[in-house]
Order: sequence, then structure tokens, then C-alpha cells
Amino acid sequence: MSVRDLSIVALPQTTVGKKVIMALSGAIWIGYLLMHMYGNLKIFTGPEHFNEYAAGLRTLGAPIFGYANLLWVARIVLILSFVPHVWAGLVLYFRKRKSRGTTNYVQRKSLRAGPATLTMVFGGIAIGLFIIYHLLHFTFGVTGIHPDFRAHDAYHNVIIGFTSYAYIPAIIYLVGLVAVGFHLYHGAWSMWQTLGLNNKAYTGLWRGLAWLLALGIPLGFALIPIAVIFGIVS
Ligand code: HEM
Repeated sequence: MSVRDLSIVALPQTTVGKKVIMALSGAIWIGYLLMHMYGNLKIFTGPEHFNEYAAGLRTLGAPIFGYANLLWVARIVLILSFVPHVWAGLVLYFRKRKSRGTTNYVQRKSLRAGPATLTMVFGGIAIGLFIIYHLLHFTFGVTGIHPDFRAHDAYHNVIIGFTSYAYIPAIIYLVGLVAVGFHLYHGAWSMWQTLGLNNKAYTGLWRGLAWLLALGIPLGFALIPIAVIFGIVS
């Protein structure tokens, strides 16, 4: 084994290395989702607070940091976590699939991509598409996707965004959130295993935590389109 084989540079080339990449980048996204959900729930406190929060994201760190500087740092961290997460996930999936053909039947059964793996891959693709739609809808406000986007009025954008086009955007969000829930459950579970947290004595605790993330995050987000559909916030 050469020194290079032991170096951190070689880590992504190994299966364990890819799983570590997935776990760490996934953890960054979970942290982001928790903050984003918390921030979104401010919609229940009224338009002023919600828009103040949206504007506050851009003035974070002022006067030391300039307008939207820290927001851009967060965006870059998110992109830098998203890209290797997708790459490592796809490489692991195709490697698993390929190994089906080269092993005997007994082994093949255990190596086959099971329902959890398929949920992760196809759910992951659905989440990727959802994020693209979501950015076009609420960040860029592309005409045709959002009927009346106003650059500095996030509250208005959310209310109109969810009540327009026969509620189809709101339904897209709810479906996207179901995909997020499944992805979080299996993802958190794999993460505990990769990081070696999941020893027998605490299985119940870690399973409970995976459930908490998988239900709590999508439900927290889902309250917003549901509240808008039923006119609880308007
Ligand atoms: C009901 C659910 C959600 C609502 C109402 C919502 C709302 C918003 C709004 C209003 C923005 C624009 C913020 C601004 O520019 O002022 C935004 C940005 C964003 N959201 Fe969501 N979001 C939801 C769910 C999600 C989910 C599930 C994800 C990830 C899987 C996500 C990822 C993002 C990202 C990456 C941005 C761009 C952040 C930036 O660069 O400024 N959102 N969201």
C-alpha cells in the first residue's frame, strides 16, 4: 500500500470514503433544512416578520460582511455538499447494480439494490427536480412558474405561489416533501451506520431520531402550503 492509498485524497475512491462523503454532505443539508423550516414557519407571525427574516438573510453579519455575502457563503457550502452527495450516491448505486451480474446467485441476492436503495436513488432524483422547480418558483420567480413574483416580498410570493394554478404548485411541494421524508429516513439511518453511531444498545434511539427527522422536517414544511390552501394564512 502506497502513502497515497492512505491519504485523504484517496478516500473518495473507496466505498467507505463515498459513504462518509454522503453522510457529511447529507448532515449539512439536514442542518440547512432545519434552519429553512424554522425560518419558513415565521410565515405564521405575519408578513412583516416573515419579510424581515427574508431580508435579514441578506444582511446577516452586517456591517462586517457586505450585502448577501454570508448568504452566498451558505449557498456555496450547499452546492459544495450537493454535488459530491449526488456523485457518491450514483457511483455507489451503479457499482451495486453492476455487481449483480458478476456474482453467483446466493451473493447476488444480498447485493441486489433493495427497495431502500431504489427509494434513495429515485427519491433523490425527485428531490433534485423539486429543488430546481423550487428555485425557479421562489428564488428566481420565473414568469409562468410564478404568476406574480415580487423581489422583496417573500410573503406575497409564498401566498400567491401556493394559491395560483389550481393549487398544483402547492401539491408539487407536498409530493416533494414526501420524497424528502423517505430520503431523510433511509439517509439518516445509513448515516448513523457510516459514522459508527449505531451500536446495538442505542438502536432504538437512533431509529427514533431517524423517524423524528423524517416526519418532523416534512411536516414542519408542509404546514405552510396546507395553511395557505385552507386560508389560515393569506
Ligand atoms: C413548503 C416548503 C417550502 C417553502 C414554503 C419554501 C420557501 C422558500 C422561499 C420563500 C425561498 C426564497 C427565499 C428568499 O430568497 O428570500 C426558498 C429558498 C430555498 N429553498 Fe425553500 N421552501 C420550502 C421547502 C424547501 C425544501 C424541502 C428544500 C430542500 C430540499 C428547500 C430548499 C431551498 C433552497 C436551496 C433555497 C435557495 C436558498 C437561496 O439560495 O437563497 N426549500 N425557499
